[in-house]
Amino acid sequence: MTSILPHGGTLIRRVAEGAQREELLQQASGHQSIPVNTWTLSDLDLIGVGAFSPLTGFLNEEDYHSVVKSMRLADGTVWSIPVTLSVEEEVASGLAVGDRVSLIGEEDGVIYGLLDIESIYHVDQQFEAQNVFKTTDPAHPGVSKLLARASTYVGGPVTVLNRPAPEKFKEFYFDPAETRQIFADKGWRTVVGFQTRNPVHRAHEYIQKCAMEVVDALFLNPLVGETKSDDVPANVRMKSYLALLENYYPQNRTFLGVFPAAMRYAGPREAIFHAMVRKNYGCTHFIVGRDHAGVGDYYGTYEAQEIFSNFTAEELGITPLFFEHSFFCVKCGNMASSKTCPHPGDQHLTLSGTKVRALLRDGKCPPPEFTRPEVAEILIEGMSVEVTAQS
Ligand code: ADX
Repeated sequence: MTSILPHGGTLIRRVAEGAQREELLQQASGHQSIPVNTWTLSDLDLIGVGAFSPLTGFLNEEDYHSVVKSMRLADGTVWSIPVTLSVEEEVASGLAVGDRVSLIGEEDGVIYGLLDIESIYHVDQQFEAQNVFKTTDPAHPGVSKLLARASTYVGGPVTVLNRPAPEKFKEFYFDPAETRQIFADKGWRTVVGFQTRNPVHRAHEYIQKCAMEVVDALFLNPLVGETKSDDVPANVRMKSYLALLENYYPQNRTFLGVFPAAMRYAGPREAIFHAMVRKNYGCTHFIVGRDHAGVGDYYGTYEAQEIFSNFTAEELGITPLFFEHSFFCVKCGNMASSKTCPHPGDQHLTLSGTKVRALLRDGKCPPPEFTRPEVAEILIEGMSVEVTAQS
């Protein structure tokens, strides 16, 4: 059974149940409330189920500054992404340290949770952007999200009272305690986690299968929370993952479960965060390929790998598996990387995301050396639904 400890040593669980939940819900209507958007709700839920262990809530002031400056919580534990609750000034001015507040869905008015306020603090978002995203450019999708938020944050431990219900693919939502149990039941001692916000193309498949040669199983863990609008929608991607797994992967060595978090596009720092989270889900290994969690030209191709050298193997707990940029080499007649292929670049099939999207939009399959036909068909269908919905 996989014996990897959760990050920080204990799997956090802050979801109230049964009579305690009823009581807290009754009291909740008497508390002041903070409206929260779907992104924050996903963070709340992931804290509640322990995916973000050792976090027990939204970062307080001390942890926030420590994370932004040095990628560690105040107690020294590795943590690279600030998970924070931003609150409009007029709401914050009515709150005080020590208050218990209700976190209410801004769209549906549901009380999703409670927060016990430890600190209320103002932040320098330019500083946060520069440190976390390595840029203050508002064209960066993560930076633009950050700058659009209020710069007052409220931190403290949370308790989840209601959980957001997935609209589709419910059967692929698992809490970390569940995936840990499933991996153990299957007898897997080593499991490699794979983060993706894209359809699985041949390069993804290649690095997954290289990893599968050395571990017991693959946990395909696509991120399905908020992504930027030109990324392929999660519902379409889910169909494509199922088709791919069914046709090209051994069922007894693969497991599909979603990661319902928002994409930050923070490149190197997000790679560390993604690895810690997958450790909480029970993975012993984690794949980091080219420009992991990157966007545009903000990060160097291998920066998301290099950042791991800031930490010791003990601090990380999970073993990162690094992969070079992979491609199909016409001369080799197989997938390869510069580590395994001696041929010049003109023998390598590489397609930009823009080019692939253009092909799919025209109803054309990219070459099978780039995308499996079963996957391409689903993406073409998904694109046509998207175009119809927009017109
Ligand atoms: S990400 O934002 O979720 O990282 P994506 O879904 O494209 O984006 O990537 C998933 C994983 O595959 C990441 O670890 C990424 O570095 C890796 N990856 C994507 N394309 C390649 C490629 N051509 N060669 C090597 N690794 C790749």
